[in-house]
Amino acid sequence: MLPEKVLKALNNQINAEMYSGYLYLSMESYFQSVSLSGFAAWMRGQVQEELFHGMKFYDYVNERGGRVTLDSIDRPDAEWKTPLDAFEHILKHEQMVTVMVNELMSLAVEEQDYATTIFLQWFVSEQVEEEATVGEVVDKLRLIKNESSGLFFLDAELGKRVFTLPEE
Ligand code: FEO
Repeated sequence: MLPEKVLKALNNQINAEMYSGYLYLSMESYFQSVSLSGFAAWMRGQVQEELFHGMKFYDYVNERGGRVTLDSIDRPDAEWKTPLDAFEHILKHEQMVTVMVNELMSLAVEEQDYATTIFLQWFVSEQVEEEATVGEVVDKLRLIKNESSGLFFLDAELGKRVFTLPEE
């Protein structure tokens, strides 16, 4: 059985993952509006990943006999000044999610809920990957400095992203 505090934090994490998907869907729409379809396609992959994360928490709570309770999802921002501005926002957001996952891990240890610590290990590794992937795009955008030729090149590169479900 899940300790009450852990159950609450897991439900909170479902909301955070769903919010991430919502935020990235809003960014996809922003990129569509500025005709950067490769950036938009990359963002769609990100949306699917976040929904996958949310469902992974959802399934785990059920598997442990807990009750999933869904909260309202905050309204995400809708506009960014530049693609760099949007990607810096993603990086900051992912760093915050990493802190949340780490805090969840500390709580599970404190509550001696070792099954949850094992479950969370996947997310600890996933966050390393998420921050690295987004950080790489941020670095490239800083080099490009919002110049159109660089942006078109990166748009073509990001558009090649094919979403595959992360390994379990
Ligand atoms: Fe689900 Fe991007 O963290």
